[in-house]
Amino acid sequence: MSKQGEVVKIKDLSFEVYLSEQTIKERVSEIGAELSKSYAGKNPIILAVLNGSFIFAADLARNISIPCELTFIKVSSYDGIQSTEELTTHIGLSVSITGRDVIIVEDIIDSGKTMKHLMHELSSLEPTSISLVTLLLKPDCLQVDIKPDFIGFEIPPEFVVGYGLDYDGYGRNLSHIFALTKE
Ligand code: IMP
Ligand code: MG
Repeated sequence: MSKQGEVVKIKDLSFEVYLSEQTIKERVSEIGAELSKSYAGKNPIILAVLNGSFIFAADLARNISIPCELTFIKVSSYDGIQSTEELTTHIGLSVSITGRDVIIVEDIIDSGKTMKHLMHELSSLEPTSISLVTLLLKPDCLQVDIKPDFIGFEIPPEFVVGYGLDYDGYGRNLSHIFALTKE
């Protein structure tokens, strides 16, 4: 586990702790409680968006106290550290969401394009409802009209890694969330 204050180097970039493991844990527990309350009496399906949300989804699911299913898809619109226009589906849905209450679990919303595309595609499958949970949101980077229903943390327009988030494939296994160092 990385200690608070520690700087980690991934490839050519240096990162410092931005949100500690404990801070994340507390917020994830709050979101889990909110979801359990909002979906009480329902049987939602949690749709975690791979790869980035795998740790968040695993922790969030264990903080949800109502019956729910958990499934995964893998989509991307990111190339290294740059957002692109195209949404690519690497792993599609393996269960039907028609007539279901769907809770999308995403790691981070930057331009919002990935989630905008995904929500549009999922809507055509006629779920009863779709809500969007994102651990992180960069409000200043949004380029499309998208409003997550549950947000862990709003962050400045900085590149972050850890807790599932990567820089060019690395850093997902870090326990804290790290941001690029200033210098
Ligand atoms: P968007 O379509 O621009 O909102 O991009 C969302 C996706 O890009 C997320 O699911 C992440 O996989 C990736 N992403 C955006 N910002 C970051 C970041 O700061 N660190 C790591 N991945 C990011
Ligand atoms: Mg993602």
